[in-house]
Amino acid sequence: MLSERMNEALNYQANRELYSSYLYLSMSYYFESIGFRGFASWMRVQAGEELVHTMKLLDYVAASGEKAKMLAVEAPQHSWESPQQAFAHVWEHERAVTRMIHDLVAVAESESDAMTRKFLQWYVDEQVEEEESSDGVLKRVQAAGSDPKALRAADEELGKRGFKFPRGFQMFPL
Ligand code: FEO
Repeated sequence: MLSERMNEALNYQANRELYSSYLYLSMSYYFESIGFRGFASWMRVQAGEELVHTMKLLDYVAASGEKAKMLAVEAPQHSWESPQQAFAHVWEHERAVTRMIHDLVAVAESESDAMTRKFLQWYVDEQVEEEESSDGVLKRVQAAGSDPKALRAADEELGKRGFKFPRGFQMFPL
């Protein structure tokens, strides 16, 4: 059982994670439209991960016997000035998500909800990886600058990113 405040906060965070998925999907189509299929593919993987983040939260809410609510998802930006600007946006967005996760942890602690606090540790750890990975990718793309050959090489490299479901998470069948 969750307190009303905890329930609301978890549903809200699920919405922000779904927005993240939508944002990265938007970036994926942006990159496809300007001919960077590797960057587009990297963003698709990122969008997939965010959908997993969304569902893990909603699964937890539902497993706690509460209502998993689908809130309206905000429309993301759909174009950027350059690959560097898009990847800088990813890095800034991930830092903002980290702050949201820390706020969520603070809610769990103030509600003395040890189960949710424990559940949220996965997100705390995940954000360390998300910040590290977005920082690395941003630096990689910044290093390529506007040199077409270097950008192509970065595109090819990032296109190799694979997708793995987190251990213990099954998206389907239910
Ligand atoms: Fe689910 Fe990238 O934050």
